Amino acid sequence: MTIHAAITGWGMGIPTKVVTNDDLAQIVDTTDEWIRTRTGIRQRHIISGDESTSTLATAAGRRAMEMAGVAPQDIDMVIVATFCPDQPLPATACKVQAQLGIPGAAAFDIVAACSGFVYGLTVATSLIQTGMAKRILFCAVDVLSHFINWQDRNTCVLFGDGAGAVVLEATDQPFGLLSSVMGAAGEREDLLMVAAGGTCMPITPDVLATGKQYLTMNGREVFKLAVRGMEESSLAALAKLGLSVADVDLVVPHQANRRIIEAVAERLKVPIEQCFINLDRYGNTSAATIPIALTEAAEQGALRHGDTVLLTAFGGGLTWGSAVVRWGAPTKE
Ligand code: ACO
Repeated sequence: MTIHAAITGWGMGIPTKVVTNDDLAQIVDTTDEWIRTRTGIRQRHIISGDESTSTLATAAGRRAMEMAGVAPQDIDMVIVATFCPDQPLPATACKVQAQLGIPGAAAFDIVAACSGFVYGLTVATSLIQTGMAKRILFCAVDVLSHFINWQDRNTCVLFGDGAGAVVLEATDQPFGLLSSVMGAAGEREDLLMVAAGGTCMPITPDVLATGKQYLTMNGREVFKLAVRGMEESSLAALAKLGLSVADVDLVVPHQANRRIIEAVAERLKVPIEQCFINLDRYGNTSAATIPIALTEAAEQGALRHGDTVLLTAFGGGLTWGSAVVRWGAPTKE
């Protein structure tokens, strides 16, 4: 019997504070018009007060568990995809596990930046398929505001904070991840990185003075590689199943820039209306964009039971990945 890992619950955790393009125009030399036409972003949410990476993930995870109808003791593993942990130790997954009162479950983080949801969904599904776990809470969360230089107009307009989560449950019915393709090009780390804050370059007063604790990016190069990486991995993930884009009901792409999504859709020959887009309200929340979009798509009826969904992402590492998912919860005995 083939074991599948159905997505039985989903949810999102969004900071309360909204930062509009006009708010950013008060800080850096930019305009609402420039940001909207170059990226499609109108606003983003940024953590404030007691909010942190783990509290956003916990909020998303709680909603996903409620929807799935699972109690804390039913979850046997917690995985968090993030490159913005609450702190270096413990893993953010351990904090989420504690905040949700999930007794004894294994908990660990994975780091794949904007590709974190595709990577994590693949890892979590594999753990269920090998019998290592039966019910996994998988959260994808990033708090980019922590790494942004709010004086750098090239980057500060692009990102936001947020979390999304799914519950994955073992089933013999063919729901959940059907295929995925992942890749990385570590030799191109320079295109999108946070150089300081780890063991290579600890934070010191001298380092802080150089600004190397902030995210830096070669936007034009990342744009080109993202379009190619998302197109190629999408086609490869579909080809593994003998499917084509014509078999896809909805594309849920990583939400970095509307123009990237339009270019990927054009290359894949998918009408843009078949791509779910909500980056106008959240900006690029890195690993969280896809589960936030899945949650909104399901709420709005854009995703229905039995739909074939194509997920595709590209980000820091460089990393990329695409996944084909059969949406819907299996009938429970
Ligand atoms: N407001 C006003 N002007 C700006 C701003 C801003 N916020 N940012 C840059 N500019 C200026 C530049 O300085 C440049 O001025 P110059 O011609 O005088 O030098 C001009 O606008 C044009 O800059 P470009 O880099 O050519 O603008 P482009 O059309 O490429 O758009 C952008 C820039 C939006 C960053 C685009 O390259 C992009 O989206 N790249 C992808 C990067 C991305 O999404 N990264 C996220 C992480 S990776 C991922 O998630 C896929």
